[in-house]
Amino acid sequence: MGSTKPKLLVDLIVGARPNFVKVAPVHRALRTLGDWLQVRLVHTGQHYDTNMSDVFFAELGIPEPDIFLGVGSGSHGAQTGAIINHYEEILLATKPALTLVFGDVNSTMACAIAAVKLGVPIGHVEAGLRSFDRTMPEEINRVVTDHLADLLFTPSADANVNLEHEGISSERIHLVGNVMIDTLLASRDKIRAAPVLSRLGITLRHYVLLTLHRPSNVDSDDSLGRVLLALESVQRRIPVVFPIHPRTRQRLESGNLRTLVGRLKNVRILDPQPYCDFLRLMSDAAFVITDSGGVQEETTCLGVPCLTVRPNTERPITVQEGTSILVGNDTDAIVRESERILDGKPKVGRVPDLWDGHAAPRIGAIIEAYLKPKRAVCGRTTHGF
Ligand code: UD1
Repeated sequence: MGSTKPKLLVDLIVGARPNFVKVAPVHRALRTLGDWLQVRLVHTGQHYDTNMSDVFFAELGIPEPDIFLGVGSGSHGAQTGAIINHYEEILLATKPALTLVFGDVNSTMACAIAAVKLGVPIGHVEAGLRSFDRTMPEEINRVVTDHLADLLFTPSADANVNLEHEGISSERIHLVGNVMIDTLLASRDKIRAAPVLSRLGITLRHYVLLTLHRPSNVDSDDSLGRVLLALESVQRRIPVVFPIHPRTRQRLESGNLRTLVGRLKNVRILDPQPYCDFLRLMSDAAFVITDSGGVQEETTCLGVPCLTVRPNTERPITVQEGTSILVGNDTDAIVRESERILDGKPKVGRVPDLWDGHAAPRIGAIIEAYLKPKRAVCGRTTHGF
């Protein structure tokens, strides 16, 4: 009898690399709620290279997407517009009871816009983060998505404060913790077993891990050049491992920085790494230099010092409580803070509250309670009301 009841459909939206890491535990948590709920995984195709997308599905145990929109790259307008257009078509064919979006990428905002216009409720995982810097495309995506969402799942208390300041009702805000840390803690054994250090011929704490992809750092020769100059100095003391984002590779290959790059003899440029290899590189590094939000969080959880190549962060808890130091796009500051760590004076932090590996089950419980009235209606309908 139960199996004949129509199921409630929940869409999970992913598009870019950090989304895959966040969706994995939420997908798992929703699947445990019972067979009244059907999860539909929608991949927009914002990231499409095998090593930016497919490897994460296999490694993190995420099933194949049910729907692939295949939008690919483009300007902000073209990419966002294409996602709205394609996702709207999906919604017009079958409307879910809830659309769940993750983080702050263009796919997040675009699918929230498509959903809200068709009356589909939205949940936002990683709500409330603010850099207060509207030159960041992600900040626009965060603000818009939060103001469209019905359920706002925040990773830390500062996010609740931001949302309340913006007039969002506290009933819609749920402090659940950090789903990216759920994935990290669930993958601990596989991360420990990843043989990446021996493959690269590097040793524990005797290298620096670098990632760079923010437009503000890599889209001009001037700003990228300032980081590379700092690197030139750092790599004289310690090898640097640099898994490179496609956006950054394009700039290095097409720009005027090739001479400077040629001087970085102790910097290993690698393709984007699979999740467990990358996290192993992170956990065993002497320290990390990055402009990634996710890496700021993961280094804080792992207790690894992190120099954040940004003037601000939407994740202030990683600075206030964690191991992150904001060094901006400033050659001298990057060199000075690197020297400090190499001289044995790293910043020590603590793991923020609720970054405990159980954020996704908390989200699942809130979604279950939110959908309960619809579930009752859904059940009654099949019994002939
Ligand atoms: C996007 C997100 C950013 C996130 C990052 C993680 C937005 C606005 N930005 O930035 O918040 O931190 O993902 O990686 O959504 N490209 C490839 N192969 C791919 C994907 C991209 O070659 O699989 C190249 C394309 O030339 C593309 C460029 O990288 O134009 C940038 O990709 P895009 O998705 O626009 O933004 P990201 O810089 O990856």
